[in-house]
Amino acid sequence: MPEELKIKDLHFSKFINSDKIQTAIKEIAYLINRDYKDKNPLFLVILNGAFMFASDLLKCVEIPCEVSFVKLKSYHKTESSGVIKKLIGIEHDLSNKDIIIVEDIVDSGRTINDVLPQINSLNPKSIKIATLLYKPMSIEHEVDLAFIGFEIPDAFVVGYGLDYDGLGRNLQDIYQLSEK
Ligand code: IMP
Repeated sequence: MPEELKIKDLHFSKFINSDKIQTAIKEIAYLINRDYKDKNPLFLVILNGAFMFASDLLKCVEIPCEVSFVKLKSYHKTESSGVIKKLIGIEHDLSNKDIIIVEDIVDSGRTINDVLPQINSLNPKSIKIATLLYKPMSIEHEVDLAFIGFEIPDAFVVGYGLDYDGLGRNLQDIYQLSEK
């Protein structure tokens, strides 16, 4: 994969290569296999961004588990409340289940902050979050992240599921916006 690339009007340079991503994923899977040894967790994968992370993570999960794919739909509740992200596509009964939310990136924390009460209202036994990327400098809402692949600086990234204007999700490495 190239060291530099251009998507539409923006230039990106390679930031985290595929080998490093796979190593971080194996470490997360190790922790999940250990912590959920006698449980049958349900992975709730947030599409679209988490599809590649979830696919590689789940190949390393060796305990019995279920997987469900959900999406977020943005809508304006009231003029003043801003955009709320509503979880759609939950087909599983979450009651009494150990849920592991699979996210691509936690940036401001707003998305997870919107999603957690919606999952909580479905009476799961426990909820933990696994995110491939976390931008601690951008966080606006306190979130408890159980499994983190990489803490990264506050700069826009694409690749490995993450997009810029719909493009770049297919890249096997992660690229960061460059100054050019
Ligand atoms: P948050 O609500 O600010 O935590 O952002 C979470 C969502 O914003 C992620 O699931 C991504 O879809 C998107 N996002 C945040 N930062 C980036 C980025 O650097 N690149 C691509 N998408 C991002």
